[in-house]
Amino acid sequence: MTDSTTAPIALITGASRGIGRLLAQKLGQRGVTVVVTYKGNADLAEESLADVKAAGGDGITAQVDIEQPESIDALFDVVRDTYGRLDYFVANAAASAFKPVADLKLHHLDRSYATNARSFVLGAQRAAQLMDAGGRIVVVTSYGSLRAFPTYAALGAAKAMTEAYTKYMAVEFGPRQITVNAVNGGLIDTDSLDYFYNSVPGMAPMQSVIEKLPLQRPGTADDMADAVDFLLSDKASYITGQTLSVDGGLTVIAPPFWADTTSPLRDAVLPPAE
Ligand SMILES: NC(=O)c1ccc[n+]([C@@H]2O[C@H](COP(=O)([O-])OP(=O)(O)OC[C@H]3O[C@@H](n4cnc5c(N)ncnc54)[C@H](OP(=O)(O)O)[C@@H]3O)[C@@H](O)[C@H]2O)c1
Repeated sequence: MTDSTTAPIALITGASRGIGRLLAQKLGQRGVTVVVTYKGNADLAEESLADVKAAGGDGITAQVDIEQPESIDALFDVVRDTYGRLDYFVANAAASAFKPVADLKLHHLDRSYATNARSFVLGAQRAAQLMDAGGRIVVVTSYGSLRAFPTYAALGAAKAMTEAYTKYMAVEFGPRQITVNAVNGGLIDTDSLDYFYNSVPGMAPMQSVIEKLPLQRPGTADDMADAVDFLLSDKASYITGQTLSVDGGLTVIAPPFWADTTSPLRDAVLPPAE
């Protein structure tokens, strides 16, 4: 176990599952002290913290509902009272509604804004106050901020807002040696991906997307966590205000897709269609 008076202190929202959980473990391997937050799954958060400790780090678990400003404040009060400082803040947790624009109700719009953009700004404000010796802020976004795809408008627009805030924060926090970046994920294999493709009525089959990706596979939570870990590492100390896509090439392709071509053209890039 590491000494929290010298080890970096990290706060990750949504570290009980998925990308946040894997990231917590990776930071544990670097001896980081991690505040593992969750909304409802206290047991999973304890398991995640146990992984961090087994990997060589330390930390605590903390409950937060990022939709509630007072809950965010209470979380940062815990960090301040427990450690007195913060080195890394990762705004990873998210929630939204998956609906066509015409069906978005006021509460869908408000919730998407509150859980993604507002929570990021409120969290970053409090995080920066605790970063006396410089620090790193990373927000996790998704390709719906860059491209329009079915039912993703509310979340995609909110993610785009966080990417815009990333640039403003990078400029305003830069003189205090705090870097601010976004990691923009494509189709990443986690619980939420499963929900999107299997529970949104009428959604296109996931395989119809995967076959069009240049790398021809879904991303993993590990792929995402590695990118965030890099931006938190010393190797990324001169990178700020950037959005790094981790999407297997999803956002560089456009129709007509190679997957829809036929021989002989297709044979130049892909195996002949069966
Ligand atoms: N999966 C994808 O395909 C994909 C692609 C691109 C980007 N992303 C982004 O990656 C990030 C993480 O996604 P994921 O798929 O790893 O998530 P996930 O597996 O669905 O896990 C969500 C995490 O967020 C927590 N959480 C949910 N609502 C919360 C709230 N209101 N307040 C506080 N914590 C809350 C959950 O806590 P509990 O366990 O307690 O519920 C859990 O730890 C998100 O920003 C997402 O938009 C995902």
